[in-house]
Amino acid sequence: MTNDGPVLAIDQGTSGTKALVVCPERGVIGTGAAEVRPRHRPGGLVEVDPAALLSSVVDAGRQALAAAGEPVAAVGLANQGETVLAWDPATGRPLTDAIVWQDRRAGPLCSELAAYDAELRELTGLPLDPYFAAPKMAWIRRSLTREGTVTTSDVWLVHQLTGAYVTDASTAGRTQLLDLDEAAWSPRALDIFGLADERLPEVVDAAGHFGTTSAFGPEIPLTGLLVDQQAALLAQDVTAPGTAKCTYGTGAFLLAQTGARPLRSSNGLVSCVAWRLAGETSYCLDGQVYTAASAVGWLADLGVISGAQDIDPVGSAETDSGGVTFVPALAGLAAPWWRGDLRGSVTGLGLDTTRGHLVRALCEGIAAQVAEVAAAAVGDLGAPLSVLRVDGGLTRSALLMQTQADLLQIPVEVSELPDTTALGVAAVTRLGLNPGLPLRAVLRTGEPSAVYEPWISAGQAAERLGVFRAEVAALLDRRPAAS
Ligand code: G3P
Repeated sequence: MTNDGPVLAIDQGTSGTKALVVCPERGVIGTGAAEVRPRHRPGGLVEVDPAALLSSVVDAGRQALAAAGEPVAAVGLANQGETVLAWDPATGRPLTDAIVWQDRRAGPLCSELAAYDAELRELTGLPLDPYFAAPKMAWIRRSLTREGTVTTSDVWLVHQLTGAYVTDASTAGRTQLLDLDEAAWSPRALDIFGLADERLPEVVDAAGHFGTTSAFGPEIPLTGLLVDQQAALLAQDVTAPGTAKCTYGTGAFLLAQTGARPLRSSNGLVSCVAWRLAGETSYCLDGQVYTAASAVGWLADLGVISGAQDIDPVGSAETDSGGVTFVPALAGLAAPWWRGDLRGSVTGLGLDTTRGHLVRALCEGIAAQVAEVAAAAVGDLGAPLSVLRVDGGLTRSALLMQTQADLLQIPVEVSELPDTTALGVAAVTRLGLNPGLPLRAVLRTGEPSAVYEPWISAGQAAERLGVFRAEVAALLDRRPAAS
């Protein structure tokens, strides 16, 4: 018998938590949101209070339930992936702040382990970079003076909600401790990071029964767990060859599915678990842009704009970027360069530069990085992309999306519903409640809310990308690699 009532789907992200109540027949019937404010400190440190993460989950979930006005059959949780903390497993109390995925403090530790980079890439599919969980876990382990467990933030949140000690295979795949082929903890990788004695969470499927919680009201089971980018990949249903998705959140993340076997990247992308369902693992390629909305937030903090809602009105006051080139490497450069030690640059400024030029240059910088990641994916997949499906808050900017279509020279389709990550976790939550259901039965498909076709020629796109590439090359030359 199927249990197909509404479910509560929660997306715990870097700058906030969103929650949806999703009904199989009526779609989204309630929403909630709670802001989270990570602290940015000198030296590339980014931290957040774990209690703020938990209260944002509970607040957003309760808001969504109140808005829906009806009970749910289960809850599911998407998480931000590579954010880690130490905590006391006896009491559940955090022993450190959560170190956010953007944090660069484990750079020296990665330099120390540089000799293992090739081995780790082959074993785990991930290059050695402080972005991933293991270098930050090793950093905490070395500095922790008290007994405790060191895990990704999902493990702690799930433990707080249900008492379980689990992580799903897609999140485990972001640690750099998971054997990519086996989708199981790798003793060798644990050894390299000095984490062989860690108490590791059980690696579970994305859909299952992971305990119960009364954090949102009456007791309900937790039946869905996924890392956020993979949840969006699932919801975008980009299974056809030549398709990929990009989520424009705090960062921008382009993912393409590669099927039941991992495809190791020859072009600087990450090869990782997409999800594990009923014991079957499927894989994806992933390329990251560390700062998208956080670069927009930075411009707002400087007072250039008041927020993301200004991108289009301010940018539209100009017809081009006025010769300004912006490489928004404000937390370093990720795929395909893997130079987290770099800082961003803005060049070509003049007394005639306006804030419209700066906004356009930022859009161009974000879109150019995504285009570079897409080119790497095309190289690995051996086939061109025919369309990019996009979601996330910044897809509301027509200027950014048009720039993206122009630089990629393919259509960009904006998801019908903005909260794609939560919809992906809603899908696995329903599967966890109804183990017999086929995956297709829980995916919602809809027409895109907008489609952006390229407006410029391939030659113009190549020229604009060439300017960006030259600026990145200058940055790469200017500073030595951290390792
Ligand atoms: O890898 C980190 C990423 O998944 C965080 O996503 O939505 O917080 O930018 P978001």
